[in-house]
Amino acid sequence: MDPRSQVLLRNIELLQGKVVLAGLPADELLAELPNAQGWSWHAGEYEYLSQRFAERCTFSTQLSGEQYSAAVLFLPKSRELTEYLLHELAAKLAGSTVFLVGEKRAGSERAAKQLAAFGRTSKVDSARHCQLWRCEVAAKPEQPNLNAASKEFIVSSGELSVAVHTVPGVFSHGRLDLGTQLLLECLAGLPAGQYLDFGCGAGVVGSFLKKTYPDAQITLLDVDAFAIHSSKLTLAANQLEAVTLAGDGIHAAPKQLTAIVSNPPFHQGVHTQYETTETMLREAAIHLQPGGELRIVANSFLKYPPLIEKHLGPCSVLAERDGFKVYRAVRN
Ligand SMILES: C[S@@+](CC[C@H](N)C(=O)[O-])C[C@H]1O[C@@H](n2cnc3c(N)ncnc32)[C@H](O)[C@@H]1O
Repeated sequence: MDPRSQVLLRNIELLQGKVVLAGLPADELLAELPNAQGWSWHAGEYEYLSQRFAERCTFSTQLSGEQYSAAVLFLPKSRELTEYLLHELAAKLAGSTVFLVGEKRAGSERAAKQLAAFGRTSKVDSARHCQLWRCEVAAKPEQPNLNAASKEFIVSSGELSVAVHTVPGVFSHGRLDLGTQLLLECLAGLPAGQYLDFGCGAGVVGSFLKKTYPDAQITLLDVDAFAIHSSKLTLAANQLEAVTLAGDGIHAAPKQLTAIVSNPPFHQGVHTQYETTETMLREAAIHLQPGGELRIVANSFLKYPPLIEKHLGPCSVLAERDGFKVYRAVRN
């Protein structure tokens, strides 16, 4: 059981009604709280929870319109996303209690200050390196508008430009990542056909692919509902057509691809996580046609080339700058 869920179970008497658990982890907490519902924006955790607890979890960037007696927010990594989620919960639970649970090292103390903007706030418990806070939501705040919280910026590479929209919590919120910038300079010469932007975030790479190769079919895949929402905003703002897909890892991706292009993840919450990218490199060949290409950007210190060579073929470096490298490999 996740330590945050353990802290909630120490206070189970507070959570007896129809409580909504926002951003809950993929564990057994719902089994202990039979009246509770889950709200997830992580496709992998949602998949687990909906298989384990049928009809008790939703996948969305917004809380469903149902009536809840209280809410618990599992503290996310981003401060801006915390702001949006607290606002969303407070707007729909005015007059009720919103709890916040999070690891101390993830910033639970700081987030409690954000919570206090919505009503009288106090600490309920502190254990397992986590804190549990509660807030009696006083007045109903205005319903937050996710699209209005989006930051727009223009990204240019070569002759092309794209207006990028990032909503809170999405990678490179409001500014372009240096690794992504380098990858955008390395999109020439891909074999025609179907491309995947793996871990699409706000859809920068997928949008440049579509602009560079208007006849290609592009899929933008991400595990995070907020990233998919951003990608849709970015595609629409640039009048580009592509498929967006919420899914956890490469196994959710289409097959028979002619290219996988990615700035893949290596941070997950407060923990460093390489597994998603390593699995993608190991299994890329299953999703690529013969002659299909993998192009990824990564921090130079990450030891991806041996993995790429083992599972795909010879790996070359297309570009190197600012501590990043763009790697290329072709499936035999
Ligand atoms: C380094 S960011 C790159 C975002 C975007 N492509 C860019 O260059 O700005 C990696 C992205 O991978 C996504 N991600 C993390 N784990 C994933 C998983 N298991 N499956 C799919 N996407 C994942 C994250 O949500 C994040 O948007």
